[in-house]
Amino acid sequence: MSKVYIFDHPLIQHKVALMRKTDTSTKDFRELAKEIAMLMGFEATRNLPLKEVEIETPLCSTKVNMLEGEDIAIVPILRAGLGFVDGMLALVPNAKVGHVGLYRDPDTHEPVEYYCKLPTDIDKRQIFVVDPMLATGGSAAAAIDFIKQRGGKNITFMCLIAAPEGIEVLQKAHPDVDIYIAAKDERLNEHAYIIPGLGDAGDRLFGTK
Ligand code: PRP
Ligand code: URA
Repeated sequence: MSKVYIFDHPLIQHKVALMRKTDTSTKDFRELAKEIAMLMGFEATRNLPLKEVEIETPLCSTKVNMLEGEDIAIVPILRAGLGFVDGMLALVPNAKVGHVGLYRDPDTHEPVEYYCKLPTDIDKRQIFVVDPMLATGGSAAAAIDFIKQRGGKNITFMCLIAAPEGIEVLQKAHPDVDIYIAAKDERLNEHAYIIPGLGDAGDRLFGTK
């Protein structure tokens, strides 16, 4: 079974609280998403492999640890996952970025795919799938299905707010994918929105409502 990491760091909790507030502007919402992605990404990349290399400092040769490869892919689930990309790229600027486009059917709440474009060498990359919300878990599970169908293997999922239902669905569908979340909320409402949540993450990020 995959591991679930919940971030209890005060800075992250404070920033998530600001994102939840109805009167937080689109500009602030976007900035907070980027800041949280950086804080979470710092921890989620903890297990990236290192290799020992010899370098020259101005004074002598020495052995230092550097990343073994820069073979990382960030895969936002469109639209709202885009809010996490800049923060992750600030940490790993050489990462490739793939995109999976999914929206939830408003009646069935099932994910509908409309786009998928991944780096061609996705099978060799450490993949970070990012999306602020894990509600029913349908979108994350489907996005990871697409990535695995195209050869992706080494996958981590990062989100801001998760419902218990979504965590269960994702763990069952992809027991090999560890999940990093900033807050685990109470439940879903009758429209499959997370309670208390922050509303519609895509609309708040792009100002479309
Ligand atoms: C939101 C969110 C997730 C999905 C989560 O996207 O960004 O992708 O819902 O819900 P689920 O766990 O029940 O699948 P939405 O479908 O609203 O699309 P958008 O990002 O384009 O607004
Ligand atoms: N998608 C969102 O953007 N918010 C929710 O609460 C659930 C799904």
